[in-house]
Amino acid sequence: MYDDNITLSGVKNEILTDKQGEVLFYQSDLPQSKKFYIESYGCQMNFSDSEIVASILAEEGYSPTREMELAQLILVNTCSIREKAEDTVRQRLTVFNKFKKDNPGVMIGVLGCMAERMKSKLLEEEKLVDIVVGPDAYRDLPKLLQNAGDGQQSINVLLSREETYADIAPLRLESNGVVAFISIMRGCDNMCSFCVVPFTRGRERSRDVYSILSEAEDLFSRGYRDITLLGQNVDSYKWENPDGNEKINFASLLEKVAKINPALRVRFTTSHPKDITDEVLLTIKNYSNICKYIHLPVQSGNSRILELMNRTYDSHWYKERVEAIYRIIPDCAISSDIITGFCSETEDEHRETLEMMSWANYSMSYMFFYSERPGTLAARKFKDDIPEEIKKRRLNEIVELQRNISLKHNLKDVGKTFEVLIEGDSKKSDQYFKGRNSQNKMVVFPKLPGLKPGDYVYVDIHEANAATLKGKVLTK
Ligand code: SAH
Ligand code: SF4
Ligand code: F3S
Repeated sequence: MYDDNITLSGVKNEILTDKQGEVLFYQSDLPQSKKFYIESYGCQMNFSDSEIVASILAEEGYSPTREMELAQLILVNTCSIREKAEDTVRQRLTVFNKFKKDNPGVMIGVLGCMAERMKSKLLEEEKLVDIVVGPDAYRDLPKLLQNAGDGQQSINVLLSREETYADIAPLRLESNGVVAFISIMRGCDNMCSFCVVPFTRGRERSRDVYSILSEAEDLFSRGYRDITLLGQNVDSYKWENPDGNEKINFASLLEKVAKINPALRVRFTTSHPKDITDEVLLTIKNYSNICKYIHLPVQSGNSRILELMNRTYDSHWYKERVEAIYRIIPDCAISSDIITGFCSETEDEHRETLEMMSWANYSMSYMFFYSERPGTLAARKFKDDIPEEIKKRRLNEIVELQRNISLKHNLKDVGKTFEVLIEGDSKKSDQYFKGRNSQNKMVVFPKLPGLKPGDYVYVDIHEANAATLKGKVLTK
């Protein structure tokens, strides 16, 4: 929702907004304002961080552009979760460097998890970038930019135990004005043996509840209707005020956000199977605006593998949590993350994952084959011994099964009516709107006069495939 073609005037940091209060453009007192271009990879948390970075840069007189060619500063917010994610970033950095050769004044910065993992390597050995900034050091960006501009090495990858950027109002990038994400915590204290996140994001810390609430209230007042609370392990959210007489856990945070307005939909991700409590489930049940959808990554259906993964639950525990969800919230949809081909995984153990998927009846899953990450517990202790062809075959089986489960899941919705929040035009046609139901399913339906993004409608479902429900707006 920003535009590079708006004429500049001489006012510093005056913000031009559209009707919904969405930032269209930051003006600057420079004749030609400085522009930054940012690409983000990885999880929602990274996309959310890019909005914090955008806000910090706006204070420095930079405005965002969608076109790299117009930028004096090119940033890439990176992910290290799998090798492929890092390969993609390297390719992009090569492209950016080519551009820089022809445009010597341009600076290139790498942010996020890969910056944290590689530290000065990208700066010194590979000479791919001018600035390296880890996820907890974004406040330092103005100084780092200046140093890099003066030709000095510019790096800050210090991790913090306190930083939550609580006071920084994110500058919403690429927003549809209806859906937004709010970080409620940072870092992760779990040590899943396959995972690089604890190393790249540092210790877990929860953000001040009041800053979360005011961000949500502000979004609601600007027309946003669907917010997702973000954390690597939201169930371990905990915050207390300095006097220690107010203690907030995730269930009470959810409730407080839900109470802002019944027309504000509340979602959250990610829940950890070891930590999700009945108190959270009851809170979801009690508020119609808390969406009936839980992302509960299982990773594997086999208890031996779960132990090697250090997930600290077994398949029995996981099943008990799924049963509790369906018992307390019968219309809840559950989705999952699955890693296949983890160290020493046998065919039988792989089959247990397939069985778990059918048993849990996931509405959808994110599926990956194991990618060894340097420095993790698994890289140090176990051999990455499943050949790539086998990993790929198992992944194909998992993907195929999930497609069938999703299709059946969606076909069961044909004939039902759902409340849908309109998010915008459907991908395929501007004659159709798209939106999601409470269960996080994408619903597509023909537009009717008078309807616009941000409106709630009831949609009768008459058709479904594995990814989408199709229907018609119910008119009274
Ligand atoms: N905090 C979330 C997950 C964050 S990472 C949780 O605990 O569920 C997102 C997903 O990437 C993980 O759930 C896992 O399925 C996958 N993943 C993480 N490390 C991986 C690795 N080394 N190889 C393949 N997939 C991985
Ligand atoms: Fe990684 Fe596990 Fe933390 Fe999720 S809970 S971010 S998988 S260490
Ligand atoms: Fe990737 Fe970092 Fe997120 S490794 S998945 S961007 S926390």
